[in-house]
Amino acid sequence: MVVRINPSILAADFANLETELGRIANADLAHVDVMDNHFVPNLTLGLPVVERLQQVSPIPLDLHLMIEDPARWAPLYAETGAFSVTFHAEATTDPVAVARSLRERGARAGIAIKPGTEIEPYLELLPEFDLVLIMTVEPGFGGQSFMAGTMPKLGRLSEAVKASGLDIWVEVDGGINDDTIAVAAEAGATTFVAGSSVFGAESAAAQVDHLRSLAAR
Ligand code: DX5
Ligand code: ZN
Repeated sequence: MVVRINPSILAADFANLETELGRIANADLAHVDVMDNHFVPNLTLGLPVVERLQQVSPIPLDLHLMIEDPARWAPLYAETGAFSVTFHAEATTDPVAVARSLRERGARAGIAIKPGTEIEPYLELLPEFDLVLIMTVEPGFGGQSFMAGTMPKLGRLSEAVKASGLDIWVEVDGGINDDTIAVAAEAGATTFVAGSSVFGAESAAAQVDHLRSLAAR
């Protein structure tokens, strides 16, 4: 099974992001949480910072847009050259149009859903997406506890992706650590975001390898 470990730089030292990216050079992608203080009650960073991260990162970027109006903003993030751009289903009435605008700009198109959002309406749209992100906490903050109640939904998504035969990454985000990663892997996740677990470790790189081994079991 292909396992991807994407550390979230939300838990990194924001005064030294280039150095922090160097600590996770053995990871698959660097997960970047963009928050606008409207879609979620927190504010992080925006386009100018993402543009610079894209230039200095040793690994590709996995952007997670927790913002309103993705139809307007998501294409601009794709134009930074980010490998994947994920927007929230709850933030748009036309996820297919947003996804197409991302693919047109060469990014993998991702759709994220909050813990309380059902996956079923999106299963018939799977061919439009390259990545589906199941939030395992309420978006907005790092360091929260994994919500195991989202696992049945993750399992239904994983089955639908397998049945489709499409190359769609099934990603989980929130509370992923030594105790929870195997649970999410068992339910079908292939791509794992981990913030505090990785950047809180003495050796972030060793923790990336450790999480990878736990997920692959
Ligand atoms: C939360 C963010 C997550 C966050 C995860 O809204 O989307 O990516 O950084 O942090 P941990 O791994 O600490 O739960
Ligand atoms: Zn995230």
